Amino acid sequence: MNHIVIIGFMGSGKTRVGKRLAKDFDLPFIDIDRVVTRKMNLSVKDIFDKFGEPFYRALETTVIKELIKDQEQKVISLGSGLPMQEQNEKYIKQLGTVVYLKGSYETLKERLENSKSNPLIDGDDKADKIKKLLKQRDPVYAKFADIEMITGDKPFEELISQLEEKL
Ligand code: S3P
Repeated sequence: MNHIVIIGFMGSGKTRVGKRLAKDFDLPFIDIDRVVTRKMNLSVKDIFDKFGEPFYRALETTVIKELIKDQEQKVISLGSGLPMQEQNEKYIKQLGTVVYLKGSYETLKERLENSKSNPLIDGDDKADKIKKLLKQRDPVYAKFADIEMITGDKPFEELISQLEEKL
């Protein structure tokens, strides 16, 4: 199925942009993190704490495999870490058109400073963790992208109209 697939770092705006595209194109919106946390009835942090990260990653993979078979077109936001898992590579490519919301380190750091907790960047050295993870992840996101949009450098409405033109 040719879903619209949104990828990008934490704080890049995947949910906000995804929800808006879904509204404008009259499609359902799915956030994979939400599907996983609903299945488990636990927060991401609690799943990481109780069962470990590999267990969470396995659940993400189960969900994208289900979505490949889903015949109803959707806008799908992938958790930031999902494209980093090698086992997901072939599935992401089958999901649909991939949009990478690319944020600069400065933009993401600012947005994540006061964000809800995320097990991978929590702690005193949040800025360093963001920098390191972003460096690892940006080339991987770029590799998957059919469309790359810079986020944080222009008003939201402008981002949406430019993106919708490309889709
Ligand atoms: C993660 C990002 C989160 C969530 C989990 C792991 C990551 O998703 O999947 O906490 O590895 O960066 P968001 O990108 O929606 O915050």
